[in-house]
Amino acid sequence: MSSKILVVGSSNTDMTVKTKSLPKPGETVLGGAFTMGGGGKGANQAVAARRLGGDVSFLCKVGNDIFGENSLRSYASEGIDISLVRRSEQPSGVALISVDEHAENCIVVASGANADVTVDDIESARGALEHCGILLMQLEIPVPSVCRAAEIAAKAGATVVLNPAPACDLPEELFRYVSLFIPNETELSRYTGVEVTDAASAEKAAGVLREKGVGRIIVTMGGKGSLICTEQGTALVPACKVKAVDTTAAGDTYCGALCVALSEGKSLEDAARFATKAASLTVQRMGAQASVPYRKEIDNQ
Ligand code: RIB
Repeated sequence: MSSKILVVGSSNTDMTVKTKSLPKPGETVLGGAFTMGGGGKGANQAVAARRLGGDVSFLCKVGNDIFGENSLRSYASEGIDISLVRRSEQPSGVALISVDEHAENCIVVASGANADVTVDDIESARGALEHCGILLMQLEIPVPSVCRAAEIAAKAGATVVLNPAPACDLPEELFRYVSLFIPNETELSRYTGVEVTDAASAEKAAGVLREKGVGRIIVTMGGKGSLICTEQGTALVPACKVKAVDTTAAGDTYCGALCVALSEGKSLEDAARFATKAASLTVQRMGAQASVPYRKEIDNQ
């Protein structure tokens, strides 16, 4: 039986426009089709974990508005346990996304209710935090709340997985509670002061994180694959060669998928291979949650 995955994080509604090139500061560009759909790093990871076979609960905060209502209905219909969702006086989170013809995006998030996930909200979910097998978090909710959740879950023996995106300053104590840290190259540079450009520099930077107390690190490097760095050494899991149309939520799918595989008792390397396959399907489709694959798509590959 797989262990329970608790995702604590953000819930957004994404408004996406496809465009030939991303606008420069002060520039207006005419885009193509507009789409609106489920997003938010937390929600994307929860949806990915659920669609890929995990037993998933999601703690987030949404406003008393139509976006929040739609999001909750959608998470429940996926089979995600939403009993830990909280309501805020703030509006639900919204993300404005542009995607260019090379599948690159730029995203601006109006955090709204996500910025209102308080330490008290976390404390009120203590039971769930103490009983999950894996706690998966990102950084679109306040850092003190992330820290408290990590501390409670780690002290109860859970595997605490942190995807440190979007990068922001973190207190040193948080690193001691994180069992698995999943940054991209830019985020890893920020947290270690080592300029990460390739596998060798990523390995060096991961060493800095391990000195801070992080047990295991997986550096996601887009088309170059993902690098697993543990006490036992490093291993590169190559990316799948596919034609990307939109990279939004690729990292989220990777994190959600990885947690599912770990919850099933797979090794870190096998879990990274599973996550790589899942993320490669996401980048071939437009949207965030709209692009997240189902388990049968991986099993049929
Ligand atoms: O990681 C992608 C997500 O970042 C989008 O869905 C958007 O909502 C932002 O949170």
